[in-house]
Amino acid sequence: MDTNDISILAIESSCDETSASVILNGKVLNNIVATQSVHEKYGGVVPELASRAHQENLIPVVQEAIHSSGLSQDQLSAVAFTRGPGLMGALLVGVSFAKAFAFSRQIPLIEVNHMQAHVLAHFIEDPKPNFPFICLTVSGGHTQLVLVKDHLDMEVIGETRDDAVGEAFDKTAKLLGLPYPGGPLIDKYAKEGNPKAFEFPITRMPNLDYSFSGIKTAVLYFLRNQLQENPKFIEENLADLCASIQYSLIQMLLIKLKEAVKQYGVREIAIAGGVSANSGLRSTLTELAARKGWNLYIPKFEYCTDNAAMIAMAAHYKFLKGDFSSLDVTPLAKMKI
Ligand code: KG4
Ligand code: ZN
Repeated sequence: MDTNDISILAIESSCDETSASVILNGKVLNNIVATQSVHEKYGGVVPELASRAHQENLIPVVQEAIHSSGLSQDQLSAVAFTRGPGLMGALLVGVSFAKAFAFSRQIPLIEVNHMQAHVLAHFIEDPKPNFPFICLTVSGGHTQLVLVKDHLDMEVIGETRDDAVGEAFDKTAKLLGLPYPGGPLIDKYAKEGNPKAFEFPITRMPNLDYSFSGIKTAVLYFLRNQLQENPKFIEENLADLCASIQYSLIQMLLIKLKEAVKQYGVREIAIAGGVSANSGLRSTLTELAARKGWNLYIPKFEYCTDNAAMIAMAAHYKFLKGDFSSLDVTPLAKMKI
């Protein structure tokens, strides 16, 4: 270690993953994630249980990140944390830990916006997008089109007005009787199904905004009617139902992405967030990008879902700018980009 080296410990605790990462001079050394399985039996994330699990998991996760980095605690230049958006109780665990760590080691504290970090996951490994680029961030909590002008200069140009697309995957999966989180299961069954078997609505909002609440209601009423006639309707048509629901969701995402590309004249396109793991979205977008001549960037799955490596990446850029927080910083559950 040189005195000019920049090493940062980063913490992520905004939802149901407790994660820690160490970054050295902009290179992520590790990404330790403890997934909370406690929520599975409740069909969604239970905020109070998330906070408790973060309290249990955080210290071991941090210890593992520091240990496997090969650095010692006193070699760390700063500590970073997710300030928001996220669940208040979950965020509080990470914020409190980071503040105490910064105070006890007398090192700078860096707050990170979780949504900026999802975008900056693209800078963890090559190939990296060139500025300006458009990032479609799709997760269980958010659906945003972001115009990225520089590492820390981003503008939300479109977003959902109600549910996030991941929520639409999970809620429709629940209507099909699938366990939480249902997104990956819809993806799995959709591979065997016909996307045109059933027609679900493709909601078009004004501007570049999204709405995903309509499809949930449409699926609910459709299933109710079909089940009255045939109680085995879901099991007999599961693959086609999943493929048709997924088709509508992907169409909604891509219609606005195409409009954004047209409006902003940008051909560097990225996707981020847990839903970017969806194989239908990946293949449709890859074909679309090839047809339109866009350069498409999809991060490794590990960096798509919630993780501290992306928080570390954002913190590195903030460190370079000397953008530090004071020790009286508090979480912001609805923090904006
Ligand atoms: O980014 P993420 O891990 O957590 C946040 O919400 O911040 O995203 C989780 C969401 C869940 O809604 C999950 O169902 C969805 O991503 N998801 C998928 C797939 N993998 C994860 N949705 C569709 N297809 C997938 N393969
Ligand atoms: Zn996230």
